[in-house]
Amino acid sequence: MASQSQFEVVPTGAALGADITGLDLAAAIDAASFGRLSRAWGDHLVLRFRDQSLDEAALIEFSARFGVLDAAPRRPVNVPNHPTRSEINIVSNIIENGTPIGGLGNAELVWHQDMSYKDLPPKASLLYAIETPVTGGDTHFYNLYSAYETLPPELRARIETLLCKHDATRNSAGQLRAGFDADYANNQRPGAVHPLVVRHPDTGRKSLYLGRRPNAWVVGLADADSDQLLDALWAHVEAGSLNWAQHWRPGDLVIWDNRCTLHRRGTLDPAQRRLMYRTQVRGGHAAGGSD
Ligand code: OGA
Ligand code: MN
Repeated sequence: MASQSQFEVVPTGAALGADITGLDLAAAIDAASFGRLSRAWGDHLVLRFRDQSLDEAALIEFSARFGVLDAAPRRPVNVPNHPTRSEINIVSNIIENGTPIGGLGNAELVWHQDMSYKDLPPKASLLYAIETPVTGGDTHFYNLYSAYETLPPELRARIETLLCKHDATRNSAGQLRAGFDADYANNQRPGAVHPLVVRHPDTGRKSLYLGRRPNAWVVGLADADSDQLLDALWAHVEAGSLNWAQHWRPGDLVIWDNRCTLHRRGTLDPAQRRLMYRTQVRGGHAAGGSD
């Protein structure tokens, strides 16, 4: 058997992302190899491992190499959690006996960073594909270091010390999570406050930190001024080509860094089944700190 330490890092050639080839994630990975993997993750922000065969325990075990796992996020009503593994977030459009077996359905997802409405958002998310559609459901990733570096200088200076409130009430498909009201005033909204510019604790690089656009609020600004500033930042994101799209195959495992990337999903055809398991790794630090 080939040595696990011989894996290769093959960059996508886009603004972020690399394939790791020659590594079996269900088998043991020694500390030196894991160190190399961590450095590749720091360099490329998103890593893809194809042709994996992971059961729930193996997915959790590999995910936990990156840190303590967080529980899956709070669901909308009528979407059950994984029956036995609180760390696994089932993402699926499959409906069994009239009940969705997982979250996010067939909707197109807005650009977002996972669970940034928490004070300590997960630093990493891992998404493992079990059943995938032939077409649709691609996941797009976006490089927020580069977005920060390419901001017009006046805009970059303006946001340097500003804080943003990240809304906890809706998921990335816009669905209301159980237990929240449909509407809140900006200064009453459940969520967490983070700087708009953060410094990555491992790479030392500065990054935009946007969360998601719906219901975001730049703390202290009048609603209209906040909307104008956030619209300018998101227009910069939308205008850029700092992204890479993942077209899923069964057995793909992708890990992304929530501190310096956004992601979103295209729509799904309800007739094509898609079943994914996600885990999330707790951040070991506050997301903030622009210096
Ligand atoms: C997620 C997510 C995207 C997808 O699980 O956090 O955004 O492609 N999923 O399902
Ligand atoms: Mn997500």
